Amino acid sequence: MADRSAEEIAATFDAAAADFDRVSADVWGPTGQCLVFQAGLRPGDAVLDVGSGTGASALPAAAAVGPTGLVHAIDLSDAMLERGRVKASDRALLNIEFVCADATTWEAPSTVPDAGYDALISSYAVFFLPDMDDAFARLLRLVRPGGTVGVTAWQQSALREYATTFFDALGPHLPQPLPDRAGRMEPAQRIDTPDKLRAWLAAAGSEAVEVRELPILIPATEEFCWNFVLGSGLRGTLSGLAPDVVERIRADFMGLITDRGLHTVDATTLVGTARVVGFP
Ligand SMILES: C[S@@+](CC[C@H](N)C(=O)[O-])C[C@H]1O[C@@H](n2cnc3c(N)ncnc32)[C@H](O)[C@@H]1O
Repeated sequence: MADRSAEEIAATFDAAAADFDRVSADVWGPTGQCLVFQAGLRPGDAVLDVGSGTGASALPAAAAVGPTGLVHAIDLSDAMLERGRVKASDRALLNIEFVCADATTWEAPSTVPDAGYDALISSYAVFFLPDMDDAFARLLRLVRPGGTVGVTAWQQSALREYATTFFDALGPHLPQPLPDRAGRMEPAQRIDTPDKLRAWLAAAGSEAVEVRELPILIPATEEFCWNFVLGSGLRGTLSGLAPDVVERIRADFMGLITDRGLHTVDATTLVGTARVVGFP
C-alpha cells in the first residue's frame, strides 16, 4: 500500500468518501472507539489523529478530551475530512479540527503545548505512509515524553479470503494483469500479529506496549462485501474503469462469494497502545 503516491491515496479516498461510512458501523467505528478507550485519553489532552478519514477515532477522541482538550484530525483526502466536519458539527464538538495535510510533513501548530501532543492515534492508516518506519518515528517526536501512542492494524487473517476473492473477480476485467506481489512484504504485513506490532511500536520509540486483538466477524452479505470495496482503499482498483465493467466485476465477485461459500468476512483488528519515550 505504501508504494502509492500521496496524490493516488488522496484520489482513492476522495472517490471512496461517499461510501466510506456505509461500513463504519461494522468496521471503522467500533475500532475507533476501542482505540480511544485503550489509549486512555483524558480531559484536556491534545491529540493528533493521523489519517483520520471521516473521524472514526478522532470524534470519540474529541468527546474524551472534552472542551479543554483539542484534536487535530489530519488526512490527505479533503472529501473524507468534510464528512468528519459535518459529524463534528452535528455533535457540537468544537474542539476538533479536520485538516487536509500529509502526515509525512505535519508539524504541530502553536495551539499545541511546547512539549508536544499528549497522544497520537492512527487507525488503519500507518501502513499507507511511505517509509512507514521513518515517517512514524518522526510523528512520535511530535508527542511529549510520557505521552501515548495508539495504532490499529489488520490482523494476519483479516480480509484474506475476502480480498483473494475480490482480486480473483477483478483480475480478468483489468486491461493489464495485476502486479505480482508474491514474495513481497507489504507494510501492513509487518505489523499484522501482536508480536510484530509490539516490536514495531517499541522500535519506533515507545515502551510499555499493550496489544489487544479485536475480533470483527461480519456476515458476508452482498451489501457489505460490495460496500467495503467502494468504501475502503480497495476503491482505487476500480479507478478509471467504465461503469459497465465495474458492474460486471461486482456481479463476478458476488458469484465467487457464493461459489466459495464465503459466509463471514474476518476483519479482526489489532489495537496497540504504548507510552512514548523521550528523545535526546
Ligand atoms: C483506511 S482509511 C482509515 C480512516 C480512519 N482512520 C478510520 O479508521 O476510519 C486510511 C486513511 O489514511 C489516509 N492517509 C493515507 N496516507 C496519509 C498521509 N500520508 N497523510 C495523511 N493521511 C493519510 C487516507 O487518506 C485515508 O483516509
